[in-house]
Amino acid sequence: MDGANHSMVSEFVFLGLTNFWESQLLFVFSSIFCVASMMGNSLIILTVMMNPHLHSPMYLLLANLSFIDLGFSSVISPKMIHDLFKKRKVISFSGCITQIFFIHVIAGVEMVLLIAMAFDRYIAICKPLHYFSIMNQKMCILLLVAAWIIGLIHSVVQLGFVIKLPFCGPNVLDSFYCDFPWFIKLACTDTYRLEFMVTANSGFISLGSFFILIVSYIFILITVRKHSSGSSSKALSTLSTHVMVVILFFGPCIFVYIWPHSTSHLDKFLAVFDVVLTPFLNSVIYTSRNKEMKVAMWKVCSQFIIYRMIS
Ligand SMILES: *[C@@H]1O[C@H](CO)[C@@H](O)[C@H](O)[C@H]1NC(C)=O
Repeated sequence: MDGANHSMVSEFVFLGLTNFWESQLLFVFSSIFCVASMMGNSLIILTVMMNPHLHSPMYLLLANLSFIDLGFSSVISPKMIHDLFKKRKVISFSGCITQIFFIHVIAGVEMVLLIAMAFDRYIAICKPLHYFSIMNQKMCILLLVAAWIIGLIHSVVQLGFVIKLPFCGPNVLDSFYCDFPWFIKLACTDTYRLEFMVTANSGFISLGSFFILIVSYIFILITVRKHSSGSSSKALSTLSTHVMVVILFFGPCIFVYIWPHSTSHLDKFLAVFDVVLTPFLNSVIYTSRNKEMKVAMWKVCSQFIIYRMIS
């Protein structure tokens, strides 16, 4: 069995939804949230870039998260929306591999970024006196480089397992986008061990990071409770937004990888929901409770509008 067998399958077909009304509903829904997510995340990046007083680690990491979310929105959603009304939803073999590659790089980077953001809050709240000596520019860059390296390694290693799989005919993916659980099932070989590997890699990494995050947030919460004062309510609202994003990101992730065999109708709705809504909600959740950010965003918006009116 070698790579030559790929030629048997040159494209994959997405099953998607067949019901017209459901497709239409999803089309409207995903288009709105895809555009909103791209605008929201771009606005966050612009706002942080244009405001020197927001150049603290917390906001720089937030801008990086928005950047990653922007990538996530563009890897899956446009193709999915474009496909919703097509009878035959196809993707080329290399297109499918590319999608899987980017989804996993992005997911890996995002996981490490979320941990970095938790770490930043931990230092800020539990070791406030050392904050500026620990969370300096160097540390920020270090965390970012680590995030990208880990994301890349995670994705390349997983692809390494499956890239040589023989495909001999079946090419229908019961999904809207390419990802390992559906992809592996189509290979013409015993994939039991591979499925286990991939579940172990993606599933347990996400489960592991999830627990690290939850434990660190519980730790931070306990610290906040101990010194309850005026500033603690602000810390609490920041923390609650972080925890919400963590649950939103990891919930579906863990669901897809630990229970990859359930393919009900509801699962597909949830998948679309996850793909278009998560990047949008990240931007909304992080900014909704943050007055400083909201004020700065309004300024950027109004500057932009004035600029358009003048020119
Ligand atoms: C990400 O963070 C780095 C380092 O803190 C910063 O220099 C960079 O501008 C950020 N990237 C984005 C897209 O905001």
